[in-house]
Amino acid sequence: ASPLRELAAAKGRSFGVALDAKFFANDAAYNALVAREFDMVVAGNVMKWEPLNRNGRFTYRWANPDALVAFAQTNGMKVRGHTLAWHQQNPTWLTGATWSADTLRQLLKEHVDSVVGHYKGKIHAWDVVNEALNDGSGSLRTTGSPWAPALGRDYIDVAFTEARRVDPGALLFYNDYNLEFPGAKQDSAFALIQGMKARNVPIDGIGFQAHLQVGGGATAPSRQALVNTFNRFAALGLKIEITELDVRVRTPGATAADLAAQAQAYGDVVAACLAVSACDAILVWGVNDGESWINTTFPGWGQALLFDDALGTKATYTAVRTALGG
Ligand code: G3I
Repeated sequence: ASPLRELAAAKGRSFGVALDAKFFANDAAYNALVAREFDMVVAGNVMKWEPLNRNGRFTYRWANPDALVAFAQTNGMKVRGHTLAWHQQNPTWLTGATWSADTLRQLLKEHVDSVVGHYKGKIHAWDVVNEALNDGSGSLRTTGSPWAPALGRDYIDVAFTEARRVDPGALLFYNDYNLEFPGAKQDSAFALIQGMKARNVPIDGIGFQAHLQVGGGATAPSRQALVNTFNRFAALGLKIEITELDVRVRTPGATAADLAAQAQAYGDVVAACLAVSACDAILVWGVNDGESWINTTFPGWGQALLFDDALGTKATYTAVRTALGG
């Protein structure tokens, strides 16, 4: 059977994966599977500000992210950069001090210069700003953010403008979760990007994280609902990428019906991307169930990915393959 990356390429899409500790452990079987199945990678953690720059201003730890980029180049994979400005995973030297608005703007520019500059010419797309909007209302997120309390929405414009200046060849994305669902947060992201376009701030795409579930709040939307949402943003002239796909079920004790609905959700997300020409990539947030962030963040939920812990394919994998025409 053809690997996912070949099936996706035949449809003009990329199929990618987030890599973290398991990749860096150099497990030969795991890394061979990654190279066989996927043609795009993103760092699950190591390109975030804290892991990269925890040791102080201008002090970067490039070894792991450089190894990831080298692996991608060796294996003909594109790289998504994740992420330049976020309210989580920031170093304490940054968050533990009080800075003036001018200095904060300068620190953000410096970081973008360092990181985007380091990887210039090697990155398909940057998640320039991640999760800037609150759940529910969609208002600008200030809690935990080093940026929004002092700079307001302006930090977003600063980050995108600087990223474009440093690497004009990289696509620039706004990335967030729960945008898959119509409502205030989706409307707010739409208005944010419309405003950026009106101000001539460079933005090329929107990342739908797509952390979905079977049952409860984040139940995966229908295929048609996803198509409608993607078309809404494509009409702004944006590329669409599904950046962090996973679909969790209740565990232990997921029923056959749960697992069928989960596989269906995976297939629907892939089919919706294929139905919208602006959608050019789908990435899952991890390879095998055991390495998923879901297990620790949502106790009682899991089994969210395409492979089991013996690296065997699951019904979710089959659903993705079928949706890709395999
Ligand atoms: O870096 C330390 C390491 O030094 C230490 O040994 C280890 C021990 O616990 O902790 C390490 O940091 C953890 C890191 O993952 C690496 O394992 C952090 O505490 C932990 O908070 C971090 O969680 C990550 C989370 O983002 C927060 O950054 C998850 O792995 C990662 O999957 C998750 O990914 C996010 C996306 O970036 C944005 N969208 C949502 C998605 C899921 O939360």
